[in-house]
Amino acid sequence: MSISGPWQRTAVGAGLLKADGVIRPTIFAEMSALASATGAINLGQGFPDEDGPADVLEAARRAISDGLNQYPPGLGMPVLREAIAEHQRRFYGVKLDPDRQVLVTAGATEALASVILAFVDDGDEVVTLEPFYDAYGGLIALSRGEHRTVPLRLPDFQPDHDDLRAAVTDRTKLIVINNPHNPTGTVLPRETLELIVELAHEHDALIVTDEVYEHLTFDEPHIPVATLPGAWQRTITISSGGKTFNTTGWKVGWITARHSLITAIVAVKQFLTYVNAAPFQPAIALGLGLPDEYFTGIASDLRNKRDVLSAGLAKAGFDVFESHASYFVVADAAPLGFRDATELCRQLPELAGVVGVPISAFCHDELAAEYSSLVRFAFCKRVDVLELAAKQLSRLGR
Ligand SMILES: Cc1ncc(COP(=O)(O)O)c(C=O)c1O
Repeated sequence: MSISGPWQRTAVGAGLLKADGVIRPTIFAEMSALASATGAINLGQGFPDEDGPADVLEAARRAISDGLNQYPPGLGMPVLREAIAEHQRRFYGVKLDPDRQVLVTAGATEALASVILAFVDDGDEVVTLEPFYDAYGGLIALSRGEHRTVPLRLPDFQPDHDDLRAAVTDRTKLIVINNPHNPTGTVLPRETLELIVELAHEHDALIVTDEVYEHLTFDEPHIPVATLPGAWQRTITISSGGKTFNTTGWKVGWITARHSLITAIVAVKQFLTYVNAAPFQPAIALGLGLPDEYFTGIASDLRNKRDVLSAGLAKAGFDVFESHASYFVVADAAPLGFRDATELCRQLPELAGVVGVPISAFCHDELAAEYSSLVRFAFCKRVDVLELAAKQLSRLGR
């Protein structure tokens, strides 16, 4: 019996299935396996190595003891939906109805999956920035959409406005942005967000904005595209508690949008996970209500970590691109004589006891070739770990 189906499309779209029919593990899985096999410092996958706020962890323990262990409501627990609405009001001045305009999901990943599956039909075009978070490619392929991309240009990884204008057409169903951006740590300026809103109107497209790093910006405060004039009606905003509260394993995410969009998304989401993470929902609700100092504190802590790793990479001989947000910094290995970052990443555990991820893993072939010597390193690790990584990387230049 031959086995086929949407998995093939998804695997091809995610760049994992090649002509030989063999599915490769994602580069993240490969690099994490390499890190555990060699004991190298894992700066490949973006997960913190320290726990988040004690109150948030305690709230989850309490919820389990209190018996919050069964299916929560389909839209998410009221306490969390109210906390999400209050968070959007407090930080961005957006007023939401928690019963009609907020949906809790199994991480930002399920939010992305249900939005893309809800709105993309065969042949619809979906525009994303490139490099792009790997799930975008797989999900667009799963929904039989056509993936068009707008390259982020060196040295600051910003999209060219003419490229954006050319990519968005009347065939575009969704413009998916990721701001702040993984893997580059770039932040889209207001003018670019305004252009995206203008293009969405002109071509009757929806904007999907993945803002999981909203609290991890190092220069300017985050601007949600939904707050721009004319944006709200056609914007679906996605976020998640994982990065903000160091709880990436809890997979508590959410969507905010106007009611009719939420309804369409729920129609799909109910058949994906239906619901998830009952005891973690009140804990994330508590986290969202923490005082302002918590949120400014995580950004300044991470800015310091960025500085430690960026300085270490520069000292080791990499060309380092400044990261303005997120967990990640991009570094060019070409000055060290390494043109192929994928090969370098495979050798890096042996050469320096460190794991990174090649930027090509976030690109289609053309940009992958252009960015072949770039590596993404995660700095969401303890300072002593980053210092050790920096010291070990300094071996490379010798
Ligand atoms: C840009 C981006 N979107 C979505 C996700 C997934 O978020 P979650 O773990 O909440 O599903 C990540 C995780 O790394 C990410 O970097």
